[in-house]
Amino acid sequence: APLTIAIDGPSGSGKSSVSRAVARALGVGFLDTGAMYRALTWWCLERDIDLTDADAVAAAARDLPLTVGTDPDAPTVSVDGTDISQAIRTTRVSTSVSAVATNLQVRAELQQRQRDLMAQIAQETGGVVAEGRDITTVVAPDASVRVLLTASEEARLRRRSTELHGSTDAAAVEATRDQVVRRDRDDSTVSTFTEAAPGVVLVDTSDLDFDQSVAAVLAVVTA
Ligand code: CDP
Repeated sequence: APLTIAIDGPSGSGKSSVSRAVARALGVGFLDTGAMYRALTWWCLERDIDLTDADAVAAAARDLPLTVGTDPDAPTVSVDGTDISQAIRTTRVSTSVSAVATNLQVRAELQQRQRDLMAQIAQETGGVVAEGRDITTVVAPDASVRVLLTASEEARLRRRSTELHGSTDAAAVEATRDQVVRRDRDDSTVSTFTEAAPGVVLVDTSDLDFDQSVAAVLAVVTA
């Protein structure tokens, strides 16, 4: 049977880069489910859809002409044939994505697409690594391997600060705190990550560097 690996975690846990490296090491495809919520958010902003209009956003989710590239070395997201891999990382999208992702009709639609994509990728590449916030619990509770990646708030802020500002000086960390802590709070109806669900292996990366985090997840896969 194909190897299906589900990895969840909060912002700055290292989930995205670690998941890609795990997929690369195993030679299987990769699915970034957060990119799908970001793509829908980008699309709604582009079309001036009121993000507080739950039914309008849900209709957009159902119509979204989304395609994802699942090569862990170059994951891409396109809407209607336009590559928006960069556009979905802007602050504008990051500050709006929680409003879209807490819409329950949106979640039902994207979760079903994610299950279908995972099955398709697994069939094509012999396995799949899917990362997000509800993959271990809702999208793929029957995955072969399920991991919750966590890290202390301090470690997560340091990583995000380096990503966004190229620095971990006090000003950069404070500028990051607002974004990261607020989004965690806005996402809290969907995911809290205070503990791993039954059967999900907790990997705390607070004191691990990137290579050590990848090795820790691969150790769970081969255990
Ligand atoms: O930037 P970061 O790694 O924190 O997040 P992301 O993986 O790009 O996901 C962006 C947003 O999508 C999250 O803040 C959640 O609001 C939402 N999301 C979700 O609700 N469920 C998922 N499975 C993945 C992401």
